[in-house]
Parts: sequence; structure tokens; C-alpha cells
Amino acid sequence: MSKKTSQESGGAKHPVRGGRFARGLAPLMERMNASIHVDKRLAEQDIRASFAHVAMLVATGIISKACGANIERGLKRVAQEIADNTLAYDEALEDIHMHIEARLHHHIGDDALSLHTARSRNDQVATDFRLWCRDAYDQIDKAMARLQACLCRHAETHAETLMPGYTHLQNAQVITLGHHFMAYVFMVGRDRSRVADARRRLNECPLGACALAGTSFAIDRAMTAQALGFAKPMDNAMDAVSDRDFVVDFLSTAALAGVHLSRLAEDMILWSNPSFGFIRLDERWSTGSSIMPQKRNPDAAELVRAESGALAGHLIDGLMVLKALPLAYSKDMQRDKQPTFSAYDSWMQGTQALTGMLDTLHVEQEAMGRAARLGYTNATDAADWLVHNKKMPFRKAHHVVGALVAHAEKEGVTLDELPLATMQALCPDIDEGILAVLAPEKAVRARNSLGGTSPEQVRLAVKRARQMFNLEEQG
Ligand code: ARG
Repeated sequence: MSKKTSQESGGAKHPVRGGRFARGLAPLMERMNASIHVDKRLAEQDIRASFAHVAMLVATGIISKACGANIERGLKRVAQEIADNTLAYDEALEDIHMHIEARLHHHIGDDALSLHTARSRNDQVATDFRLWCRDAYDQIDKAMARLQACLCRHAETHAETLMPGYTHLQNAQVITLGHHFMAYVFMVGRDRSRVADARRRLNECPLGACALAGTSFAIDRAMTAQALGFAKPMDNAMDAVSDRDFVVDFLSTAALAGVHLSRLAEDMILWSNPSFGFIRLDERWSTGSSIMPQKRNPDAAELVRAESGALAGHLIDGLMVLKALPLAYSKDMQRDKQPTFSAYDSWMQGTQALTGMLDTLHVEQEAMGRAARLGYTNATDAADWLVHNKKMPFRKAHHVVGALVAHAEKEGVTLDELPLATMQALCPDIDEGILAVLAPEKAVRARNSLGGTSPEQVRLAVKRARQMFNLEEQG
């Protein structure tokens, strides 16, 4: 496509300015008005929507069969150019919609001028963008399912692997690594349900709303809606062209999913720290230092953590574009694609990067097991033993074991290293039976309540999750 000057873009041939304007845009105005560098990502959806529109125009007799066939032939050529990446962009043509129409005209001549009958760029862009978000949801959903499947696979392998469970990032109770991984499976499951929910809500068709008021042509909105896989045409033409809450849904779903990704990333970062030494990231997912030869840095996880901040920013960006906009369309809305595309890229990249890291993860079971014993993680088990076996009220047992821990701490030993006589001196009710529950393996096995950390519960959770979320067994 030849580069037009601003003067020419005001001339008779310019698709939008052709009739009304004698002069072209100021160069800065042309540059800031152009969205092609962002909305070129809607090309495929724009073509799809045009195919549906032209078929409807023919079916309703609004344009002739011959004209429709010619437009379809031309659209195919443009689609091919887009697929081949040979469509040239020109800021004078503003956006992807005008590019495609202009290119169509180049290929088929004046029949192209009928494509925009009973259509406005307002319903066109709303339709394209909904289609784009729907496609994006389908892609991200697959990526999230792969992440879940990978986590399930690890959870199954590590149903018995001991590690410390934390609250306040202080050792709390012994858990299994499988239990920890499964927490993320259900988190991502809720993210996927938010995706499904938002996808269903956006799946109504704005096409035919035209500028804001509908059209005098006898169009068939049900036909275009159906052809594009929408559940129904949107009810109100003004709402159809001015609504962008589907964008906010997308951005908020992405922001929350990003927060979940950041928490998993943070666990990877902590666990790979040599002071923890719980995991080793594969070399393909580790970076080095320019000065410290020993370093294996978890940069990918750190970048995922940082991107989650950007995702929250994109949500605010989208909300602020919409805030207090009068009905119906305003050019502000052109600015809604930037945060959405960026959000999708971060979301997808984060999901895939964590899957890649996890796929190749090496777990240091011994280090995890050793750490599981630190910080009196079996104190609750000792208290529970007093309740179970000595019928002691829990709060009293809590105080007794608190005293045992304080004593053990002074001696620099673990609870199970305290001599029985020392325990009995603090609480005469205690007998050697308590030693059995102090072993971490026993402690995790005992936490066999639904959703608990026991190997049995972890295996059941994996089974449930695979069913519930329709996951492949091989992550
Ligand atoms: N590039 C525009 C956008 O993305 C297309 C809609 C233009 N509509 C208009 N009334 N100027 O929002």
C-alpha cells in the first residue's frame, strides 16, 4: 500500500474524510488518531465479522449476490495477505477496519464500497473486539488447564513428600508437597471458571447496532449473531456500541489470575533460595550473574511476579477509560485495546512460563523433609494427642505444649528429643504414646480430613481435580 500524505488523506478518495473534508489532518493529529499499530491484532476477527455481515446483506437482498460474491472473494485475498504478513500499514487509514476496507477496494474495485452498508465502525469494532476476547479466553483457558495438569502430576508424585507448611511464613505444620501444589490447582480452577463466566457474558453480538441507533435497512441480526457463534444479538444498540464491561471483565479476570501466578512464582523464588534449597530450577529456566559465578537466579518467576503488577495496572487503565464516558461511543474507547492486549500477553506468558518451570522442576526431597522438622511443626499434634487421649480441653493442651516448646527451645532440642521424664515433669498426663504422633510422617497421615494434607487426601484431590477441571493425566 502506498504511503499517502496527510493532504491526500483529506482528498476525495479517503474513505472517511472523502466527502466532508477539504484538508488533511495535522501530522500529529493523524499520528495520535491512528490505532493501527495496536488494533492490527483484530485483523482476523474483522475479516470474520465482515464475512458474516456480507452474507447477511446478500440473504436479506440489501446487496446483490454478485456484489456479495465479489466482496467475499476480495476478503479472502485480504485475509491471505494478513496471514502472510504482507498487508502494509498506513497511519492515514487510522485503524484495521479502514485498512481492510481499503485493501478490499484495491482488489475488487467499487463493489467494496457496499460492504459498509448497514454497519458502522462502532458496531464493527465492538464485534471484532468481543470475538478477539472470546478467542483469547479459549487460548488462555487451554494454557491454564496445562498448568493445572502439570501441578496435578507433581502432586501425585509428591503425595508423600514432606515439607513445612507456613503461616506468616513461619513454620506451622508439616504438610505434603502434593497438598501445596493442589492449592494452586484449585486456585487456577476458579480463574478458569471466571474465564468461562466472562466468556458467556460477552458472547452477545453487537453487529447491526450500527452507529448507536440501529438502521433503516431490514437487516437480520440473528443471522450474523449465529454465524459468528454468539448466543444472541445484543438487545440495545446504544449499549452494544458503548459497552466495554466485557473488557473490564477480561482485565479483572486477568488481574486476579495474575495475582495467583505471582504467588506461585513467589513460592518458586523462595524454595529455590539456597537457604531453603527445596527445589532446583532447570538450567533452561535459570539465569546467571555477571559477577557472582555461583548464582542460579529464578528470573522467570521474578518477571511473572512483576507482570502481575502490570496486570493490576491494566485493569485500572481499562476502568479509567470508561469512567463517566457519556453514551454512546467516544474515541476514548479506542484506547481500550492497549491494556487488553498487554494483559493477555502477560497472562499467557506467565501461565506458560510457570508451566515450563514446573515441568522441568527438580525437588530436593531431603531438604524439604529436614525443614519440615524445624520450628516445632509437630506442636499441634502434641496438643491434639492430649485432647484425643487424655480428654484435655484443647485450650489447656495448647498451654501445656506451649510450655513444652519453650522448654525444648531453651535446651535447643526438638519436641521428640525431650526426654519423657522432662515432659511428664511439665504435664504428668503425658506418656510414651505421645512420641508416636510427633513423627512428621505420622502427623501428615493423621490429617486425613477432607481437603487435608494426608497422602490419601492429596491423591483423592488429584482425582477430583482431574475430573472437575477435565484435565489430561499427562501435564
Ligand atoms: N478505531 C476505532 C476504535 O477502535 C474504531 C471505531 C471508530 N468509530 C468512530 N466513531 N470514530 O474505537
